Amino acid sequence: MDDDPRPALWHAVTAWYAAHRRDLPWREPGTSPWAVLVSEVMLQQTPVARVEPVWRAWMRRWPTPAAFAAAGHDEVLRAWGTLGYPRRALRLHGTAVAVVERHGGEVPRDREALLDLPGVGGYTAAAVRAFAFGERDTVLDTNVRRVLTRLLDGLPLPPPSLSRAEERRASDLLPPGPADSALWNIGLMELGALVCTARSPRCEACPVAERCAWRAAGYPPDPYADRRRTQAWEGTDRQVRGRLMAALREATEPLPLEALPAWHDEAQRARALTGLVADGLVAVTGSPARYRLPGR
Ligand code: ADE
Repeated sequence: MDDDPRPALWHAVTAWYAAHRRDLPWREPGTSPWAVLVSEVMLQQTPVARVEPVWRAWMRRWPTPAAFAAAGHDEVLRAWGTLGYPRRALRLHGTAVAVVERHGGEVPRDREALLDLPGVGGYTAAAVRAFAFGERDTVLDTNVRRVLTRLLDGLPLPPPSLSRAEERRASDLLPPGPADSALWNIGLMELGALVCTARSPRCEACPVAERCAWRAAGYPPDPYADRRRTQAWEGTDRQVRGRLMAALREATEPLPLEALPAWHDEAQRARALTGLVADGLVAVTGSPARYRLPGR
């Protein structure tokens, strides 16, 4: 037990965090659990710089779950703007409604109660518990997974899907005290965001470079590279969806098909539109059909 390497690791990461952390608004003391939850949902697929102004305006407009639950889907999607993956906005609305209906408008602290909320998965529940309530929980986002995979497995990127074994290892690495464990979580996350980045890690600035298995092994390549190559055409589909949503956010009345943005591949545009309708992000009215953001 004497040569448990963890305390030195905890210290290196949390001391680095204290010196290099970014002042982000959702990290300010007194940020409500709801505001933390909103930030985590926004940050899951969108970079900090784009989230920050939207989050500030959002929390000013809808400071509580009750305020937000009363908003219409069209307002929610307009406010979400260009954060991307707009289904998240509607899911967040569903979360607010459930918080109001089941918990009197207060975000619960209990893990199971959080996980029972629509739109709240393991990551969001753990992040809210750790960062809003100071509970001891394992926060495993892609940044944290990448740091731990490099440090301990000697591989550049984590496996495509999260396994129980990976979760267990991360929870075994958690410091014993709740405050220390929250700092460890956020420290690893910040290290992944600022130093141990996916594309260009700055190992010279890393507080644990000396202990890093990936570095020690001479930076071997990603064994899962083949399985990661689905992004390219998904990217294009997302791009058409984005164009269509942007036009509908701007529109003041329902638009006929021919008024929607043109796209070089008509079949793909039609598919994207059908997908948006199926996802509840676009509503269809009348005959001939016209398209608008959904209402309440
Ligand atoms: N602070 C707390 N959670 C965060 C996240 N997901 N990304 C960046 N900073 C954070």
